Amino acid sequence: MTSRRDFLKQSCSACAMVAGFGFLLSQESCSAPAAAMSVAASNGVFSVPLSAFGENKTLRIREASMRNDVLLVRKPTNEVHAFLMKCTHKGGNIKEEQGQLVCTLHGSTFNMEGAVTQSPAKNPLHQFPVKVEGDAVLVTI
Ligand code: FES
Repeated sequence: MTSRRDFLKQSCSACAMVAGFGFLLSQESCSAPAAAMSVAASNGVFSVPLSAFGENKTLRIREASMRNDVLLVRKPTNEVHAFLMKCTHKGGNIKEEQGQLVCTLHGSTFNMEGAVTQSPAKNPLHQFPVKVEGDAVLVTI
């Protein structure tokens, strides 16, 4: 038979494990990427200020009419590339992870130029034409 003391010890251990697991979950959610910046295109072009990058090299955009986000990648020269965050293998979502772009469906990876670095995808990510005019990044979708 379990003594009252043993029962309390076991109960406290279980609570500590649940609390620890909750802490880990909260840590995981703290490292989640920031939400995409919402924009709406006009005549097939959306505009984002260069200053929206802040200190970051990338900026994730959600254009109102598109099903996938667009990732803007700023080069040191302020040249900007715009990638559709949709895998060229079978359309999986792409996430940015540790300096590369990773498909969440089958694990293809792409470098920050959009080129395939790990199959099964064979083709680079779709890129949109980009012009930088002053502080405005203009992306044609
Ligand atoms: S859909 Fe991306 S690797 Fe298959």
